[in-house]
Amino acid sequence: MSIGGVRPAVQAMPTYRPGKAAGQAEEEHGIKNAIKLASNENPYPPVPSVVAAMTDAAGRVNRYCDHLAVELRAAIGAMVGLDLDNVAVGCGSVGLLQQLCLAYLDPGDNVVYPWRSFEAYPVNVQMMGAESRQVPLVDHAFDLDAVAAAVDERTKIIMLATPNNPTGTALSVDSLRAMLAKVPDSVIVLIDEAYREFLDPSFGDPVELLADHSNVIVSRTFSKAFGLAGVRVGYLVAASAIVDEVNKVLVPFAVNGIAQAGALAALRARDEYEPFLAGLRDERARVVAALTDAGWKLPDTQANFVYLPLGERTQDLYVEIEKRGVVTRPFAGEGLRVTIGTPAENDRFLATLAAVAVPE
Ligand SMILES: Cc1ncc(COP(=O)(O)O)c(C=O)c1O
Repeated sequence: MSIGGVRPAVQAMPTYRPGKAAGQAEEEHGIKNAIKLASNENPYPPVPSVVAAMTDAAGRVNRYCDHLAVELRAAIGAMVGLDLDNVAVGCGSVGLLQQLCLAYLDPGDNVVYPWRSFEAYPVNVQMMGAESRQVPLVDHAFDLDAVAAAVDERTKIIMLATPNNPTGTALSVDSLRAMLAKVPDSVIVLIDEAYREFLDPSFGDPVELLADHSNVIVSRTFSKAFGLAGVRVGYLVAASAIVDEVNKVLVPFAVNGIAQAGALAALRARDEYEPFLAGLRDERARVVAALTDAGWKLPDTQANFVYLPLGERTQDLYVEIEKRGVVTRPFAGEGLRVTIGTPAENDRFLATLAAVAVPE
């Protein structure tokens, strides 16, 4: 018997496995100058005004912060054209995902989501003793008809990452609207846009779906585009009735004062981020073109990473690439996810891949 009688649902959970740090790869392989392209982070630090705001906030951490982050939520609301009451912030958008599961899932409920997708989905569903209904991808993209068809009377939530992690494929607002028409209003539809800022604008803005669908939640994060992964702040926008429930299960002060100050400053400095984001999108296009020219077949990525569907070769190639100092993220038997880094990092990845493998 386990000490203290851990809940079976938790006992069966896998331990969270973060992307490997460059230093860890250096130690494992006895190499130097490894680079990390494993966690879809922004290779550039936050802009100076954001660092200054966080430094300033660090001088006030003897006090608890504003638990409900009113100033930040109001600023997010103003940005998306909604009220403070329609915005929740959490300890990363993955914190909000956990809050959503805590607030809505009981054992016996189920959650429908395409798979493969973000690894936190099955973990958080299992944590609540609920059932995951995974809908297979078709050509590395979502089959929304199959998602709608998988919903039954015990379905509480549908989780849709767009762009998807790890395949990078995205959903248009029109396709989401068509799916929503087939799903009961009682089912929450989480549209997880952690990579929104890398998405082509032609896909549209799912926040507009909230006007007609009170069951829609759109979640986003400051981790990726704004370079704030380390301070942990994400947000969701939804009907105020959902925001109220989600806020009830927020760990007190989980979005700390430094994180709030950084996120607020990042919103104010959006224009300063744009050249960096445009640079990353250009680099993505360059990497995709180089891989395609070399004969690799990739799904259309709208995120800050590319996905190589290497199948059975994934694990071997991942190790070979890592031994040469480029840390990526493997999904054994399926494919390799590689974050877009600086131009020099991307060149290094492309040269390393070319040195170890050719397309089949
Ligand atoms: C699809 C997706 N959603 C959410 C997250 C969570 O990001 P964070 O908790 O840093 O906001 C990630 C992170 O990798 C992700 O890939």
